[in-house]
Amino acid sequence: MAMDRYVITGKQRLEGTIRVSGAKNSSLPLLAATLLAEGSSALLEIPQLADITHMIEVLEHLGCKVVRQNEALLINAGALGSCDVDEGLMRRMRASNLILGPLLARYGRVKISRPGGCAIGSRPMDQHIKGLQQLGVKVKEKHGYIEAWTDKLLGADVYLDVPSVGATENIMMAAVLAKGITLIRNAAREPEIVDLQLFLNKMGAKVRGAGMDVLKIDGVESLHPTEHTVIPDRIEAGTHMIAAVMTEGDVLIKNVVPEHLEPVIAKLRQSGAIITLMDEAIRVQQRGRISGVDLKTMPYPGFPTDMHPQFMAMLSCAEGTSIITETIFENRFQHVDELRRMGAQITVEGRTAVIRGVETLEGAFVEATDLRAGAALFLAALAAEEATVLEKVDYIDRGYENLEEKYSHIGAKVVRV
Ligand code: EPZ
Repeated sequence: MAMDRYVITGKQRLEGTIRVSGAKNSSLPLLAATLLAEGSSALLEIPQLADITHMIEVLEHLGCKVVRQNEALLINAGALGSCDVDEGLMRRMRASNLILGPLLARYGRVKISRPGGCAIGSRPMDQHIKGLQQLGVKVKEKHGYIEAWTDKLLGADVYLDVPSVGATENIMMAAVLAKGITLIRNAAREPEIVDLQLFLNKMGAKVRGAGMDVLKIDGVESLHPTEHTVIPDRIEAGTHMIAAVMTEGDVLIKNVVPEHLEPVIAKLRQSGAIITLMDEAIRVQQRGRISGVDLKTMPYPGFPTDMHPQFMAMLSCAEGTSIITETIFENRFQHVDELRRMGAQITVEGRTAVIRGVETLEGAFVEATDLRAGAALFLAALAAEEATVLEKVDYIDRGYENLEEKYSHIGAKVVRV
């Protein structure tokens, strides 16, 4: 099927209420974690996204029964069939590597094809493999496949060279059924790690410390299914805040955990955005143009790399010059060329981009190169003069549920063709 495109007419002030969906990057590890127990777990507020569909396909390929019942997704990981996932499935979504930990814990063996790199970077797995090996797992990498097996998972003191989100999650999910105590040092501290700890403990695991840089896991004999509501998607929420700022709108963003957005809120306020925090909502009432700011992406609780492209779109039409330094991924400037086509003045030196704000962006033909680049171009189009044609919106479908409906509802002129 030819990839769909958006036709967006810019300069429409956004006004109204928009509701954030469940977090993609929490849903994916939670889905993998259901493999750890016999029986049916229920996950609520799982968003309907392409990446989630792919993960469900992987689970079904392994023998799980998955049904969507209203707001809940029921996953029965009863009698798993195979523990091998073929190339086709694996290549389409990197996060399917999160089945490593659960399958090793439940069955002691797994074979996956090496998930491909993607537009933003090579996405290595050395930290996942090193941590699992310390738990007693044997790993063989051949012909693009990763084969792992163990006859006994033993708790260990694991140190991560980088606070990798995926590696932290894989090692957590293996350690919960290992014999003895596991420590994960220099662990990722993202809210999605905290959500996974909560889910695992509801299944009967003993995990402590998520959100800090040392996790302690006491292995148990077995786990049982449970139910859980996934946390809201902080990156989707941040994207909506920027849309409101760029269109000088007045938008109430609901289903938000404000503390998950602290670095984004701080940067937006520093640039002159007008943000009001409530218990589970954020209101952005923007009047006037924002000024340029400098930002550097860092592991949580630093500024999230997944918000840098959207921020670059906003800074492209801010007052003054801004500098963005991307420290997490080595190739996350794919959106720069496309923003330049809309009149943005950006120069890139290695991992640093210098953005000179222009009066306004101009509508143009542009294309999404990856998920967050697509989001950035969507935002730029909302603020640009005239119309923008944004190609390859399938990338956006990977991380944003019903984007055109949500935005049309608050005044945007977006058509999907
Ligand atoms: C998660 O990816 C997110 N995906 C990414 O979101 C996010 O950008 C990233 O964390 C960083 O926050 C999901 O949660 C499904 P990492 P992940 O392992 O786990 C290096 C989006 O747009 N590294 O924390 O793959 C790696 O090269 C996506 O929703 C190793 O060196 O990220 C990178 O430089 C994009 N060795 C850094 O760590 C490893 O074994 C962070 O990667 C693993 C990672």
